[in-house]
Amino acid sequence: MTRDIDRGTRSVQALISMTLYNIVPTLVELALVLAVLGVKFGLFFIWITLGALALYICFTVAVTEWRTKFRRTMNEFAAVAQTRAIDSLLNYETVKYFNNEEFEARRYDASLDHYRKAAVKSQRTLSMLTIGQQVLVTGSLVLMLWHTTSGVVEGRMTLGDLVMVNAFMIQLYIPLNLLGVVYREMKQSLTDVDKMFILLDEKREVLDAPGAQALTGSDFTVRFEDVSFDYEPARPILKHVSFEIPAGKTVAVVGPSGSGKSTLARLLYRFYDVRQGRITIGGQDIREVTQSSVRRAIGIVPQDTVLFNDTIEYNIAYGRPGATREEVEAAARAARIHDFIMATPKGYETTVGERGLKLSGGEKQRAAIARTLLKNPPIVIFDEATSALDSANERAIQSELKNAAQGKTTLVIAHRLSTVVDAHEILVLESGVIVERGTHAQLLVKQGRYAQMWQLQKIEDSE
Ligand SMILES: Nc1ncnc2c1ncn2[C@@H]1O[C@H](COP(=O)(O)OP(=O)(O)O)[C@@H](O)[C@H]1O
Ligand SMILES: [Mg+2]
Repeated sequence: MTRDIDRGTRSVQALISMTLYNIVPTLVELALVLAVLGVKFGLFFIWITLGALALYICFTVAVTEWRTKFRRTMNEFAAVAQTRAIDSLLNYETVKYFNNEEFEARRYDASLDHYRKAAVKSQRTLSMLTIGQQVLVTGSLVLMLWHTTSGVVEGRMTLGDLVMVNAFMIQLYIPLNLLGVVYREMKQSLTDVDKMFILLDEKREVLDAPGAQALTGSDFTVRFEDVSFDYEPARPILKHVSFEIPAGKTVAVVGPSGSGKSTLARLLYRFYDVRQGRITIGGQDIREVTQSSVRRAIGIVPQDTVLFNDTIEYNIAYGRPGATREEVEAAARAARIHDFIMATPKGYETTVGERGLKLSGGEKQRAAIARTLLKNPPIVIFDEATSALDSANERAIQSELKNAAQGKTTLVIAHRLSTVVDAHEILVLESGVIVERGTHAQLLVKQGRYAQMWQLQKIEDSE
């Protein structure tokens, strides 16, 4: 995609400068030279030149049309090779873990080989085009020169005329060749621009309803009403899920991995639209209000945090651009990451590396929590937000999270049950169905799935 955008923008620039500085002046030049030759030495020159020009144009257009596909193949192979290189560089750790440098190198080599073959073919057809063009241009020049020379021999023209025609022919030769190059470049540029515009036309999966208004009111009760959802029709993920998070209360969702917990968060954030049922905030269907107002009201600490390749301060302040240093530090303190930051040599100026790879999983998670605390939205979602922390840190941060969730509508997705005992309601989700619901105490009494999970985790924790 970045390549398409890059090529596209450069091509727009090339198109403008070529039409403005090449095509128009060249045509003017051609017309002037032709006029002078025609007026001074007769129509023969005009006919020869126009005939050659017509042949030249037909030939160039036909051959360029034909060889565009070779260039396109070449571009595609170049993109494949680049994608492979980037992918293996991004995943360098995995490549090393499996000692697969050789394998990656071979794969890259293979795609470069495809590229080379396509490039050679493209270059070969280009040479054919150039040869044909040269033959046409030179042929017409020879004709003109022959006509002038015989004129001199027959005494119709002077030697001076011959020199003049020769000089003018050079004036013709350069712009004619230029036209061919410019046409080819424009054709390529148009292909590249086309690709960019295809990107612009890409449809968005989730659209604001026409005339959608912003979310209003100060009631942030979240309701899932009979929600069903699938990423692809063959595999339903959520089946008739209904629950309510009263404003300012906390609902927890627990269940095995893959049961659809994170999907709940994605639906509430409206990354996708529900297939059936509806989700409301304060009684307003989130499909009928603007996405930006919904997203402003919600803060997510996602399961997998990725950070920007910038300073830690930048990454935390990202929660609310324009926040002061004091506010950033307060959020960092609340997320228990301030001390860690101060212990690094550069403090808040420490850069975190691409996607945050210079931080440990737990540090990234705490940075993400700080970021969300700074955003301070009325609805918060913690999606296994403390799963990468050790028990001691998790307990420490738990009280902060509880503080942060104070008075906020909170959806907690957790795999460690000890973190959800205080929830207003706990839902046990299995294969997209809520199989049990109630408070911690109620669920323990029930002796069902939750009680089982609780027993298991207690044993694990005591080990
Ligand atoms: N973008 C996606 N396209 C297709 N399937 C997906 C996508 N995201 C998640 N899934 C599938 O949906 C199921 C539920 O995922 P998720 O909600 O992330 O589970 P979890 O309960 O572990 O958070 C998983 O089986 C996963 O494979
Ligand atoms: Mg998940």
